[in-house]
Amino acid sequence: MATSSASSKLCGKRQRHPGSRSPLPSILLLLVLSSTPPSSSESYYRYAVCAPYTYSCGGTKINISYPFRVDGRVDNCGYSGYYVACSEDNTSVTIEIDGKGYVVKDIDYLSRLITVVDPPFVKQSCPQPYQNTSIDISLYSYSDRDRNVTVFVNCTALSPPIPDMHDMGCEPGGAGGRHGYYQLPGENHMEMFGNCSSMVVVPMHQAALDEIRYGKLSFSDAVKGGFSLHWKAGEEWCCDCFNSGGRCGFDALSPNSHTCFCPYGSTVGTCSGTRSDTSAWV
Ligand SMILES: *[C@@H]1O[C@H](CO)[C@@H](O)[C@H](O)[C@H]1NC(C)=O
Ligand SMILES: *[C@@H]1O[C@H](CO)[C@@H](O)[C@H](O)[C@H]1NC(C)=O
Ligand SMILES: *[C@@H]1O[C@H](CO)[C@@H](O)[C@H](O)[C@H]1NC(C)=O
Ligand SMILES: *[C@@H]1O[C@H](CO)[C@@H](O)[C@H](O)[C@H]1NC(C)=O
Ligand SMILES: *[C@@H]1O[C@H](CO)[C@@H](O)[C@H](O)[C@H]1NC(C)=O
Ligand SMILES: *[C@@H]1O[C@H](CO)[C@@H](O)[C@H](O)[C@H]1NC(C)=O
Repeated sequence: MATSSASSKLCGKRQRHPGSRSPLPSILLLLVLSSTPPSSSESYYRYAVCAPYTYSCGGTKINISYPFRVDGRVDNCGYSGYYVACSEDNTSVTIEIDGKGYVVKDIDYLSRLITVVDPPFVKQSCPQPYQNTSIDISLYSYSDRDRNVTVFVNCTALSPPIPDMHDMGCEPGGAGGRHGYYQLPGENHMEMFGNCSSMVVVPMHQAALDEIRYGKLSFSDAVKGGFSLHWKAGEEWCCDCFNSGGRCGFDALSPNSHTCFCPYGSTVGTCSGTRSDTSAWV
């Protein structure tokens, strides 16, 4: 775990500080490029087709790279289970996580984080979480930016109020007289069960929680910010492939291989070079 996060930082570092590297590896890569014609046109083709892709849906544009797959690109460019699509009404980019669709707000390749939000939360002025979030742990883990907030929904008004039990400040679904309450992490008010129809755990960003605490953000708006997941595909090797000038890929015949598409062909692991194009992202 520690080594993989270190290597993803290295990925980012190399991109942010292109001047700190010796030019020699780039020259070597150029030599490799100019002296070695594509030995396998199929692999070369994959390197080309797996170039970062800008996906548009509604008014949203999102960069697609490994491990994400999308219609219009061959599946070799991503890992299975990470399929990004356009919502049925063509308004938002979506991804299915553990059988449930989420709106994709952002994909950060340097930090390997995808930020998603429950679709109803986006539209409702007063988000009513009625389901717990569950993620597929073979594909994702919660990021250290997330915190769990316990929310009680469909409650009778608290009288007297319980300190630290915060009213959402809006009536979910306009349900006459019913209230929603949340408790910030660290507090525990299970006695609320008696007056509410359900309790759900909602992940959100620590930064949003801090803003709630300081009264800068409403609960509804904090929930609309979503939460971030760390994706697992490629975590041990994709950065190395990228830093060697390659593009991470997928080989259906060998799905667990560290498939790396290089300008000159396909390898397992890393290309025989160093990234020359420092402006590109994974
Ligand atoms: C996609 O990547 C390009 C190139 O790095 C960057 O300029 C652009 O801002 C990115 N777009 C989004 C929506 O993140
Ligand atoms: C969404 O976009 C696709 C392709 O542009 C189009 O075929 C489809 O009719 C659109 N659907 C809606 C609901 O607008
Ligand atoms: C939030 O709860 C889920 C399970 O409900 C757990 O897997 C996750 O680690 C929790 N996150 C935090 C930041 O405590
Ligand atoms: C809200 O609570 C009332 C009273 O317990 C119940 O009749 C109703 O079904 C609940 N609504 C939802 C959406 O759970
Ligand atoms: C729960 O509801 C009952 C009546 O419906 C009320 O007497 C009681 O004060 C409520 N509990 C809390 C903690 O508000
Ligand atoms: C959500 O998970 C908590 C335990 O983390 C559980 O007590 C609660 O009943 C669950 N809520 C729903 C609606 O399933």
